[in-house]
Amino acid sequence: MSIPEEIDFEVDADDLSPLAADARPLGAPSLVVDDLYITYRVFGGKRVGAGVGAPPSLLKRLLGRGRTHVGGVTSVEAVKGISFVARHGESIGIVGINGSGKSTLMRAIAGLIPPTQGAVYVSGDPSLLGVNAVLMGSLTGERNVMIGGLALGLSPEEVREKFDDIVEFSGIGDAVYLPMSAYSSGMGARLRFAISAAAVPDVLMIDEALATGDAAFRKKSKDRIDAIRDQAATVFLVSHSLATIESICSRTLWIHQGKLVMDGPAAEVCAAYKAFVKAQDGASR
Ligand SMILES: Nc1ncnc2c1ncn2[C@@H]1O[C@H](COP(=O)(O)OP(=O)(O)OP(=O)(O)O)[C@@H](O)[C@H]1O
Ligand SMILES: [Mg+2]
Repeated sequence: MSIPEEIDFEVDADDLSPLAADARPLGAPSLVVDDLYITYRVFGGKRVGAGVGAPPSLLKRLLGRGRTHVGGVTSVEAVKGISFVARHGESIGIVGINGSGKSTLMRAIAGLIPPTQGAVYVSGDPSLLGVNAVLMGSLTGERNVMIGGLALGLSPEEVREKFDDIVEFSGIGDAVYLPMSAYSSGMGARLRFAISAAAVPDVLMIDEALATGDAAFRKKSKDRIDAIRDQAATVFLVSHSLATIESICSRTLWIHQGKLVMDGPAAEVCAAYKAFVKAQDGASR
């Protein structure tokens, strides 16, 4: 499984309307995550802190947290007892430091990894904006629209019907007939978002995929997310850009070391998380 590319970007406050994360009436529950545990098993890993002589360094101990090593198999407890309920029409941000379990939680909700313990109940079809994983740089944008559309559960006819809209939304024009490897990173990101947003699933998960170039396109992406929410879907947005989360999400979950440490209004959770990151940053100097 590939870990999505880390792209950090900031949204200018001017790009987005201040009323973006408005409160709107919420529907019935669309998703229930009940005491979810996900443990990865990695074969052939090296024991963390293994070595002769000196005890493991602080760094090694920190990196090794949540890992156990038995007989050549390392277990990584990526999600440890997370529970929450999401509703139709809700947009939920997910924050947390690298390796805290955000992508793992999204993959589990999308049904891509089975729970080790606990359960995920989803009404309708969840879709992880994970088209990144299936797109191929050596193929043209056109071919990738087809592959990505199929990966999202659209039929070939549906993809053909939506093709022009997808290309128009992406704004990359004739470049769609070039191999994706010839795209700038912004162009690639625009096409990925356009493909991903072509389907309207019941639960849409966007993991870092909003890191899409210029201000105009981010505004367009945000409008598209709002439209998806208006169709009563639930949208999850994993991002390291708190400005993006605050402008798009009404509610935010903060995950730390596989546990849900805070769940509440986006502004409050982002403020608490920001304070935590700042304190950590100070402590590590
Ligand atoms: N396929 C995998 N096999 C084994 N361990 C994994 C796998 N994917 C993730 N992990 C481990 O699970 C933990 C959580 O990873 P995850 O990708 O969910 O974090 P994240 O919060 O999405 O981080 P980031 O902000 O860097 O994207 C990490 O310790 C990571 O090393
Ligand atoms: Mg991740």
